[in-house]
Amino acid sequence: MSHRTTIAGASSSFWMTLLYHLAVLSSLCCLVSGYSERDRVNDLMSHYPLIDGHNDLALQLRIYHNNRLSQVNLYNVSKLATDINRLQAGHVQAQMFAVYVLCGAQGKDAVRLTLEQIDVVRRMCTEYEDLQLVTSANELSDSQMRKKIACLISIEGGHSIDSSLPALRMYYQLGVRSMALTHTCNTPWAESSAKLYDVYQRQNNSLTHFGKAVVEEMNRLGMMVDLSHSSWATASAAIKLSKAPVIFSHSSSYSVCNHSRNVPDWLLQELKKKRGLIMVNLNSQFISCRSEANISHVADHFDHIKKVVGAEMIGIGGDYEGAVGFPQGLEDVSKYPALIQELLRRNWTEVELADILRRNFLRVFEEVERVRDGLSSQKPSEVQIPLEEVQNQCRLVLRRPDPSGRSPSNTAQHTPKGLIILAVLLMISNILIIE
Ligand SMILES: *[C@@H]1O[C@H](CO)[C@@H](O)[C@H](O)[C@H]1NC(C)=O
Ligand SMILES: *[C@@H]1O[C@H](CO)[C@@H](O)[C@H](O)[C@H]1NC(C)=O
Ligand SMILES: *[C@@H]1O[C@H](CO)[C@@H](O)[C@H](O)[C@H]1NC(C)=O
Ligand SMILES: *[C@@H]1O[C@H](CO)[C@@H](O)[C@H](O)[C@H]1NC(C)=O
Ligand SMILES: [Zn+2]
Repeated sequence: MSHRTTIAGASSSFWMTLLYHLAVLSSLCCLVSGYSERDRVNDLMSHYPLIDGHNDLALQLRIYHNNRLSQVNLYNVSKLATDINRLQAGHVQAQMFAVYVLCGAQGKDAVRLTLEQIDVVRRMCTEYEDLQLVTSANELSDSQMRKKIACLISIEGGHSIDSSLPALRMYYQLGVRSMALTHTCNTPWAESSAKLYDVYQRQNNSLTHFGKAVVEEMNRLGMMVDLSHSSWATASAAIKLSKAPVIFSHSSSYSVCNHSRNVPDWLLQELKKKRGLIMVNLNSQFISCRSEANISHVADHFDHIKKVVGAEMIGIGGDYEGAVGFPQGLEDVSKYPALIQELLRRNWTEVELADILRRNFLRVFEEVERVRDGLSSQKPSEVQIPLEEVQNQCRLVLRRPDPSGRSPSNTAQHTPKGLIILAVLLMISNILIIE
């Protein structure tokens, strides 16, 4: 009897103790619920670290250092919002680095400048051992296991190809896996969302015959078509034409903030039909349509787009280094966890968050590669833009002169002014020879 009582007593005190510990633990959890929420975010982002769609670090390297990488320590760049230490702190595992050259270079030395920007991204992603240049979805997944930050190269603006499919193909060879059809200027073949430059104005024809050839060649190569910065008409035409999913690498919702860089709901619906991706831009101007914004405003974009097309179409394209003002609490690339925490509070599921952090992007990238593989029997496109659509003084045509003198190349180069200069030069050289 007494023996049994002792056991019962010990047993009940065991349960009492357990209950006590549970009570203490749960009250601790309540006391420090901020920590447990943060832990949950860290846990989630450790398993599903971010693939971000847009960062202009390469532009800043040109502006501040003229691309002299030796002048900077990329682990700690306090004057910028991006460096390796903060990318790691923010659980950024992959970054599409934009290769951007000013629209003013269009028809001039845009190709040289683009090559120089590709060079600086390639250099930084091979010289720093925590970074890794990747060019396929497989390499991207592999880089996560190796604990590297993957770098993807994306061209920001079709003026970089100078209306040349061979130039596009050579960029692919250098590792470029995404290109925005326009930046803030129209190209001879696609239309920008901005009206900053009055070049290549058009009423109609937002994606010309050559523009369609560009999209088709990007499908064949396995390069993502990026529609951020393009007009809605161009975006819509490209979505309809593209065989692979397309992306908006850094745009937000027009319904929430009616900025011309954002995407309206009807266009989101078209994007969804192609299983594409909108990677939400964090630039305050596109978030709140004002210079000030906070995390709630950002989360409103995510909520709205999810309501319209579902979480499977959403990613994140921060646009750090490409804009001046970022929302309070999202000032630099280490702050992404705060955004994920806010979405958790708004009842986004972990599955949805894993999708927007990386799985949606991987799905699109893999699909772009599948489309490429399906087109592997197709030969490189030989479509050329009509000369009259790209005439400018920098464009030489390597072709035998047409004896009839009526070829477009002759009209492009032998202007009366050019002929007069040529005649004067000949006269001078004759004089020099005679003397
Ligand atoms: C980063 O550099 C700044 C000065 O540029 C310095 O004040 C800061 O302590 C450095 N931070 C780290 C983590 O090294
Ligand atoms: C657009 O172009 C088509 C032919 O390509 C033409 O039929 C139509 O009238 C044009 N619309 C405008 C507004 O110029
Ligand atoms: C955007 O919305 C604001 C009010 O929210 C309005 O004043 C403005 O005219 C709108 N702009 C455009 C381009 O629709
Ligand atoms: C963001 O600003 C709005 C007012 O514009 C305010 O209602 C909201 O509480 C703020 N959110 C945060 C997280 O500060
Ligand atoms: Zn941009």
